[in-house]
Amino acid sequence: MNKLSRIFFSFALLYGLAGIGLGLMMASHHEYTQTPTHAHTQLLGWVSFALFGLFYNSFPAAASGIMAKIHVVLAVLSSIVMLISLYIYIGGNASAEPVLAIASMVYGVSYLAFIAAMAPVIARG
Ligand code: HEM
Repeated sequence: MNKLSRIFFSFALLYGLAGIGLGLMMASHHEYTQTPTHAHTQLLGWVSFALFGLFYNSFPAAASGIMAKIHVVLAVLSSIVMLISLYIYIGGNASAEPVLAIASMVYGVSYLAFIAAMAPVIARG
């Protein structure tokens, strides 16, 4: 397994654990305010990061370029900031919104880097 896949799989496992923890907390308290944070931790964190790991494991050529490195750095940093600021924002602190907005945009840029890393490999067939 290449280093990039290992990083994405490691974060996927951590996000899955955090999302399940939040889901269990919400269910046991009958308090569902943080449902969007739970859903994003599971789908952006656990599912997307596991898929990134699988992509880079299936296409190791894509993992060696600069775009893949930009992807992993921006995706990891922006997702951490995004999920924490989403939790704070939904918890009632509107001042977290600018941080949430910037982190979300950086995550979008990281996804563009993912496309740029994958496109040449997919185009080659
Ligand atoms: C032990 C595991 C889990 C627990 C206890 C749990 C718990 C919950 C709870 C209490 C809600 C709120 C339901 C409501 O608002 O009525 C919810 C929503 C949601 N969960 Fe989970 N969950 C778990 C695992 C997962 C996983 C593995 C995923 C995805 C990979 C996931 C994705 C979602 C999504 C997308 C929503 C939002 C659904 C909507 O608003 O329509 N959950 N979960």
